[in-house]
Amino acid sequence: MEYISLGNSGLKVSKLCLGTWHLAPSKERDQFGVLKVDEELTKKIVQRAVDLGINFFDTANIYHGTMQGVDPAHAGNSERILGESLEGYDRESLVIATKVLGRVAEHANGAGLSRKHVNWQIKESLKRLKTSYIDVYQMHRPDPSTPIEETLETFSDLVRQGLVNYVGESYFDPVDIADMVQISASIHLPFISMQEPYNLIERGIETEKFWLAKKYGLGIMAYIPLAQGVLTGKYENGIPPMSRAEYVSEIGRRYLTPQTLEAVKELGEMAREKGVSSSQLSLAWILKQSEINGITIVPIIGATKVEHLEDNVGALDVKLSSDDMKRLDEISKKAVVNWKDEFTKARHRSYG
Ligand SMILES: NC(=O)c1ccc[n+]([C@@H]2O[C@H](COP(=O)([O-])OP(=O)(O)OC[C@H]3O[C@@H](n4cnc5c(N)ncnc54)[C@H](OP(=O)(O)O)[C@@H]3O)[C@@H](O)[C@H]2O)c1
Repeated sequence: MEYISLGNSGLKVSKLCLGTWHLAPSKERDQFGVLKVDEELTKKIVQRAVDLGINFFDTANIYHGTMQGVDPAHAGNSERILGESLEGYDRESLVIATKVLGRVAEHANGAGLSRKHVNWQIKESLKRLKTSYIDVYQMHRPDPSTPIEETLETFSDLVRQGLVNYVGESYFDPVDIADMVQISASIHLPFISMQEPYNLIERGIETEKFWLAKKYGLGIMAYIPLAQGVLTGKYENGIPPMSRAEYVSEIGRRYLTPQTLEAVKELGEMAREKGVSSSQLSLAWILKQSEINGITIVPIIGATKVEHLEDNVGALDVKLSSDDMKRLDEISKKAVVNWKDEFTKARHRSYG
């Protein structure tokens, strides 16, 4: 495994990060009808990741492990399982990133980026993760009802208390990111990363966010690097049992268009010619984009089987020529992803 600095910071992370939004699902459901997580298998996946040299783990205070759109009754499950899976490892050898913002309780302060909510949730995350500090504490989304200074000053206090090492954002408006970088510099807060959706068929961050990464030395943590599994080619002949699309209907609407399936088929042909898997080719493309653009991009991979992880780590050995990159660029242009970015219209700004 190779280790790189996350952006302009001194923090060394493995070239791949393991995410915990989705964990291995079990076949059982809980009292609310929600699929339970197969905790034994998840533990094996996390431990195999450590064996393979992955030191970087991403989670969020709301993640459950099989749900998208988590309700308060299910929030915190992924952090708990990750904490239990990493128990016994040398904490100083690990880099743990988590996030705050999502709703964890129905009351007025049960979500957001206020001082009150953040000061509460850091304690909950630390307990679940069984650790005394977080390496990268991220704002999961903007909170337009809280002045950004309030959040950054709270984060700064957490850094001074030794509870957090670095901070980052996820999916903010580019103008707000530039503001946050400047405010952070003025209060000596180590703001080092952006967490953004990025894969061969969803490339919206290549304009402004690549520019921000370069200008401010921010590392990019690329989420959904395999388009939630679609780029592995697993949906070419329908929806396999227990795959994500079987229980998350949005995957079908967003990705399983004839054009995207055709692009994925061509990706599979190219992968076969190169003697690699589609997943490896897709992840290697992200790593090559990092190299070409002179910015840190760390794919946050998801895995529901040990074999997924082993397959995906193989991406680190795939070499791509400029002709390969051109061909992948052509393939990527053929996909049609049905997803409207409503979010960037909601600016964070609400200066108090
Ligand atoms: N900041 C944010 O708002 C945000 C949003 C989303 C995600 N994230 C982060 O990004 C991480 C990764 O997201 P993601 O899970 O969507 O990533 P992904 O890598 O695009 O998709 C992972 C899924 O693809 C399938 N898969 C992976 N490797 C495979 C292989 N080699 N062969 C066959 N299938 C394979 C598995 O799904 P099956 O269930 O089908 O087996 C796996 O769960 C999350 O865990 C989270 O940490 C952050």
